[in-house]
Amino acid sequence: MLYCTIEIAISILEAISTGNMISDNTDDKFVAVTRVDELKDKTILPVSLKGTDIILVRVGGNYYAAENHCPHSGGDISLGKLDGTILTCPFHGSKFDLIDGRVIRWTDWTSIKASSTRLFHPIRPLTMYPVKIQGNSILVKI
Ligand code: FES
Repeated sequence: MLYCTIEIAISILEAISTGNMISDNTDDKFVAVTRVDELKDKTILPVSLKGTDIILVRVGGNYYAAENHCPHSGGDISLGKLDGTILTCPFHGSKFDLIDGRVIRWTDWTSIKASSTRLFHPIRPLTMYPVKIQGNSILVKI
């Protein structure tokens, strides 16, 4: 994790020095998270960005950024498993599509347990964040 934090700090410093901090005329800015050549295919990279815990995921030539707290019960979803763009939470088996964050399955529980969890944890999608590639940098807008 320390290595990751140092890498991110270096990427941000590179972005600042090369003018890669991008404003799109709003208060929100894209921030360089890491480099394209450092994020291998089917990798889930946990990152803290502006105080928000996110994951950055590469699937083929596509990149996705999402919150790193499972919408079901807040589990660390960076520990999940990828099947294409479908991310399965390791805690209770919820599945989300990284293309748009939609819920594919809300826990792997059945019957009364499944019904009751919907009362206490209403179904909601994974919060997604815009990603853009600029040169060799992967930028995320928080
Ligand atoms: S915390 Fe992810 S499915 Fe429950």
